[in-house]
Amino acid sequence: MKLRPEIESMVPYRQGKPAAADAFKLSSNENPFEPLPAVREALAATTVNRYPDATAHELRVALAAKFGVAPDEVQVGSGSVAILAQLITAAATVGDEVIYSWRSFEAYPGLVTVAGATSVRVPNTEDHRHDLDAMAAAITERTRVIIVCTPNNPTGAIVTHEEFTAFMAKVPESVLVLLDEAYAEFVTDATAVVGPPLLSQYPNLVVLRTFSKAYGLAGLRVGYALGAEYIMDAARASAIPLSVIEPAQRAALVSLEHEEELLERVHRIAVLRDQVWQALIDQGWNVPKAEGNFLWLPTGEQTAWAAEVFAEHGIIARALAPEGLRVSVGEAGSVDKLLKASAEVVRKLRTASAQPALD
Ligand SMILES: Cc1ncc(COP(=O)(O)O)c(C=O)c1O
Repeated sequence: MKLRPEIESMVPYRQGKPAAADAFKLSSNENPFEPLPAVREALAATTVNRYPDATAHELRVALAAKFGVAPDEVQVGSGSVAILAQLITAAATVGDEVIYSWRSFEAYPGLVTVAGATSVRVPNTEDHRHDLDAMAAAITERTRVIIVCTPNNPTGAIVTHEEFTAFMAKVPESVLVLLDEAYAEFVTDATAVVGPPLLSQYPNLVVLRTFSKAYGLAGLRVGYALGAEYIMDAARASAIPLSVIEPAQRAALVSLEHEEELLERVHRIAVLRDQVWQALIDQGWNVPKAEGNFLWLPTGEQTAWAAEVFAEHGIIARALAPEGLRVSVGEAGSVDKLLKASAEVVRKLRTASAQPALD
């Protein structure tokens, strides 16, 4: 039995490790809050003997109204990662190139390989941000897609409005730009780019968002894209039919109705994030200003060891060797353990190298 060699050589997607009963799972950038009662009620009321609405019509209408676009300029997928896959597959194939910053979201390389296309990874700047000048310079006649992730998973850094518009001025209109804003709702930096209002300016721009993070529906798998109708049609054409299940559509609709309540939770997470960020800076870490619901500890070659220290303290973090450790902002009760672990890592690294931490 023969498989495509590039698929055989891929490492399957690895999820954050499960946590022991007294540990905190801070490895998947999930939302620590339980679903709202209204979401629970909606879930209890959905039927499962029928197929879902294949077009997610009601949800697309609600999202269209929220963003001031037409329903056909919205596509809903089983997580925004599904729409990323659909659009990469729709735009790029063998011999084509997809540019993205690295490190960024772990799923990008696999999605590009599965499409048969070639990844062009542009290293992040020293301060863990997208190097948009280098990304623009990497465009060739083979480039079909560019992914811009803001805030960037895992480094937490944003792309500013100014940087993004300067970048778009250099990108040919024939190249699809996917602005991945999975963590948009957590951003408090006023200089950050905000995708949806820019859609009318750039016909080759698609904005991706999700209900997984700010809305706390990661387990139901529902995300969406906004962009030109013909591009959304291409995403629809390359989707696995009926993959956005009815409970997910219902829960997303109810979440939009209760947005204020959910965004108040997001605000609380962002406040905690800033407190933890400050505490890490005070410990001596060189942590980029975090704008998502996670923090980036540049532990370099010591990443696997640092992850073990965190685990000993009851914190499951995401080890992304050889660059660093990503820790989600979770339950308030996890902060103490997190900061004890980070203090121990910093102390040991300093003793070992007599160098200031880290980077
Ligand atoms: C940057 C980024 N984009 C997209 C996703 C996918 O989110 P989902 O498929 O749950 O909508 C994630 C999830 O971790 C992410 O970090």
